[in-house]
Amino acid sequence: MVTQRRQPIEIVRFDQVGLVYPGGHRVLHGLSQSFNVGSFTFLTGVSGAGKTSLLKLMYRGVRATEGTVRVFGKDVNRISSSELPQYRQRIGIVFQDCKLFPHLNVLDNVALALKVSGTDVKTARTHAKELLQWVGLGQHLYEMPYTLSDGQKQRVAIARAVITRPLLLLADEPTGNLDHEAGYRLLRLFEELNKIGTTVILATHNKALIAEFPYPEVELHQGRLVSVANVSAKVSHG
Ligand SMILES: Nc1ncnc2c1ncn2[C@@H]1O[C@H](COP(=O)(O)OP(=O)(O)OP(=O)(O)O)[C@@H](O)[C@H]1O
Ligand SMILES: [Mg+2]
Repeated sequence: MVTQRRQPIEIVRFDQVGLVYPGGHRVLHGLSQSFNVGSFTFLTGVSGAGKTSLLKLMYRGVRATEGTVRVFGKDVNRISSSELPQYRQRIGIVFQDCKLFPHLNVLDNVALALKVSGTDVKTARTHAKELLQWVGLGQHLYEMPYTLSDGQKQRVAIARAVITRPLLLLADEPTGNLDHEAGYRLLRLFEELNKIGTTVILATHNKALIAEFPYPEVELHQGRLVSVANVSAKVSHG
């Protein structure tokens, strides 16, 4: 019997994508790139290169000026505003500035993500507690976000993004406020999630942390993505 090699399936595909912000600032230009289902990719580039903008295009935080962005096989520009919340439920997003709900305590910030996807409150809180303990915030469950350090807020944001086990995780500088050990531990959490099927795209400046993980790195440079030279030296995952 002849067994056929399965083709990798794309979860995200950019085709000739350009992005110009109102006011005329061009950030992306003719960018084409695919991300396969189950992949783990580091996204790098100097400050202002457009990493956050690229992630925003995927969750339709902004719309491409030119070209097409396809996620889960769908042109994101064609998603209607009534379909957007459902679309975003399949995506975990760690925002660069955390964006916690200021009126909810740590536990409910994380549990809410599960409640929204239909889990009952008690189960949602139980799962949220476990995850928060794992990220080292077990002693802070009932505190309000404004009482937390930046690194603690970042860990709440990460717990909130991963608790639903999203198909696609977009993490924007998720370890920016963490020391190396805490950053490493959180990347291990992303790795665990990746192993059970989540595709991870992680924007970061943290080259020391990237060097510890065997995943490819693409760099935004002059509006396009380029593979970083040492990618081939790294062992590809999956
Ligand atoms: N809403 C906006 N309106 C106009 N210009 C914007 C907007 N958002 C971002 N920009 C500009 O687009 C460029 C890319 O910004 P972006 O935040 O995507 O970069 P980045 O690579 O994430 O940077 P950093 O590493 O500092 O987070 C910057 O020059 C920024 O000033
Ligand atoms: Mg950014």
